[in-house]
This record gives sequence, C-alpha cells and structure tokens, in this order.
Amino acid sequence: MSKKVLILVIVIAGLLTTLGTVLLARVQGQPSETKQSAATDDWPVPDIGQLPNDKFGQMVRFGKELMEKTPKYLGPEAADPSKRYAGNNLDCTSCHPDGGTRKFVNPFVGNFADFPQYRAREDAVGTIEDRINGCMERSMNGRPLPLDSVEMKAMTAYLKFMSTGVPVGKAIAGRGTPKLELIDRAADPVKGKEVYGQFCVQCHGENGQGKRVGKIGDGQGYQIPPLWGPDSYNTGAGVYHVTLLARFVKAAMQGRPGQPQPELSIEQAFDVAAFVDSMPRPQKANLEADFPARKNKPVDSDFPPYLPGISPTQHKYGPFKPLLDERAKVYGETPQG
Ligand code: HEC
Ligand code: HEC
Repeated sequence: MSKKVLILVIVIAGLLTTLGTVLLARVQGQPSETKQSAATDDWPVPDIGQLPNDKFGQMVRFGKELMEKTPKYLGPEAADPSKRYAGNNLDCTSCHPDGGTRKFVNPFVGNFADFPQYRAREDAVGTIEDRINGCMERSMNGRPLPLDSVEMKAMTAYLKFMSTGVPVGKAIAGRGTPKLELIDRAADPVKGKEVYGQFCVQCHGENGQGKRVGKIGDGQGYQIPPLWGPDSYNTGAGVYHVTLLARFVKAAMQGRPGQPQPELSIEQAFDVAAFVDSMPRPQKANLEADFPARKNKPVDSDFPPYLPGISPTQHKYGPFKPLLDERAKVYGETPQG
C-alpha cells in the first residue's frame, strides 16, 4: 500500500468511527456533537457553558435538567410524591429535542421573547408559564405546576436564557414545525400501520411502547419515548391533531440517524400520524371547553362541536381542505389549520 492510500484509509476509518459514535449517541437518546442546533446568525442558540455558576446560572441549568430528565423530578415515579405533576414518563425534550435547540422541531429558541401572547385555544393572552402548563396538562398528561414552584422558576429561567439576545417581539424562523401541504384524501390509519412497520417500529416498538432506560418505577424514563398507551400524551395534546403530528414526524422522525431511510412522503407522514393517533391513549377531560372562540378550533379536532353535517371521523382524519372551506363558510375568515 502506498503512503497516500494508507493515509486515506486512516482518515476514512477515523471519519467512520466519529460518525458511528454520533449515530449511536442519537439512537441512545444522548446529545451528539454534530447537532443541527449549532448557533448561526439566524439561529442564536446561546452557550450554556458560558453561564457563570451563580444562582441564576444554577437555575438555568436546573431548568434544562428538568426538561431532559422530567420523569426523575416531576413524573409519576419521581422520588418525592408531592412533585408528581406529570402523568406520564415523557421528557419535555421527547418533543423539544436537543434541549429545545433543534430548529424546526418545536425549539425553545426565542420563545420567551414572544410571551405573553394571544392563544387561540383559550382565546386569551397567556404567559410563558401558562404555555408550560399547557404541555404539562396535555402532552405530559399531568397537572399544572404551581407558579411559585422552584421547578416552574427553573424552566422559565431556562427559557429566558434560550432567548438571549432575541429582542422582545422578534419572530424567529425555525419555531414550531414546518407546515405541510394538506393531502386531498383522508389520512389512512391502515396505510399508516404499514408506514409504522417500515419506519418506526425498530425504535418505538411493536406496541408503541418505546424503550425504557431502566425499569418501571425507577423514574429514569425512556431512551425512546412511547407513542401510545397509558404512558403517552393525552387526547388534548397538540400532536393528537393529525396535521400537527404529521408535521412533527416529517420534521423530526424521518431518516432518523442510524437508520438508512428515504424521506417520508407527505402522504406517509399523514398516514402514520393517523395510525399513531388512532391508538389508545389517556383521555383529556373537558375538551369541549377548549377553543371557546369556535372560529379558532382546528378542523382536525375530533371533539365536539363539529361543523354542521361533518362526522367526527372526518374531523379526525380528513380530508381537511373541504373542512377549511366549511369552517370559513360558518365563521367567516379563519386561521389556517
Ligand atoms: C408529546 C409532545 C410534547 C411534550 C412531551 C412537551 N411538549 Fe411542549 N409543545 C409541543 C408542541 C406540539 C408544541 C407546539 C408547537 C407549535 O406551536 O407549533 C409545544 C409548545 C411548547 C412551548 C411553546 C413553543 C413556542 O414556539 O412558542 C413551550 C414553552 C413548551 N412546549 C414547553 C414544554 C415543556 C416545559 C414541556 C415539559 C414539561 C413540554 N413542552 C412537553 C409538544 C410537546
Ligand atoms: C432511530 C430511532 C427512531 C425512529 C426510527 C423513530 N423515532 Fe420517534 N423518537 C425517537 C427518539 C429518540 C425520540 C425523542 C426525541 C428525539 O430525541 O428526537 C422520538 C420521539 C418521537 C415522538 C414524540 C414523543 C412521543 O413519544 O410522543 C413521536 C410522536 C415519534 N417519535 C414518532 C415517530 C414515528 C411516527 C416514527 C416513524 C415515522 C418514528 N418516530 C421513528 C426515536 C426514533
């Protein structure tokens, strides 16, 4: 072997090892070093390592810890029973990955600068604490955290830190998840089951149960979070809406690192979202009270009141385009979605 070839082989081997480590870290749910989250001019992720170890820095770090290891502190298996505010063992970062720094996957970057804000679901202005408690009661299937609790203060401190340098009111591109074009047919849970078998089952499991870090009861939560069943998000969660779940899946779950997968098509994303949201999960009580301003009610909500003559099934799975037209007819000009 010539010297040049040898060097090339060594370099390639080195690259592969690095790639392997990164992929393994992702699959195991640990932060990798090559995240999409690297700060850029238009994606100002602050460096937590630069924070001093004073009281504020400690609160910010505790807030991050709470979001990444939620079951340990706030879950149904938390050591202190009085702190069991969450009803499932998800982490906040199950849906806000990489500590909420991943662009286009419900990141926390810039959130704080956008609150208080008008909330369509309540038809009222809500604070960032209200927003956290929205996820506590729905995505985490739990109870609201008291506003004066150290946990609420720590999480809001972390969120404030994640808006470092972002002027109040500035809209940051990369928030939420990218909108998808609506498909013309109903999303199909039967087709979605096939998509699940092809793209998701290897991680989330045959019964959507995910993979625990340790054992039931130890408060360590999941390496891979569950998608349905008693330890999942409830029927009041954002991702219980098929369009929002399709967006999340398309943005976050296609071509997962470590899995050589082609991109999910938009139809596959809708179908797999329909399948996951058709499976059993905890029920949120009192859903009819959501969206008191009915013009704001997303057309893909399968709880009453329904648009005149439209079945709950069409509200759940679509086709959604005719529903948007119908809603506009009933309520006049309405927001998309
Ligand atoms: C099952 C998924 C899921 C879990 C778990 C979850 N969230 Fe969310 N969260 C969402 C979705 C979906 C949104 C809506 C994003 C959008 O507006 O498009 C959201 C929005 C938010 C927002 C507002 C984001 C913005 O851009 O304004 C905050 C803050 C937030 N969540 C905090 C939390 C915290 C804190 C926890 C843990 C206690 C948590 N979430 C757990 C899914 C989840
Ligand atoms: C390589 C493993 C892997 C594959 C494949 C995968 N996921 Fe995930 N999924 C994860 C991990 C890990 C998380 C936690 C968030 C993160 O770190 O990105 C997650 C989070 C989620 C969440 C939000 C948290 C929850 O439990 O509700 C949903 C929904 C989801 N995945 C759906 C899917 C769907 C649908 C597919 C197939 C299209 C899929 N995932 C494929 C590993 C995977």
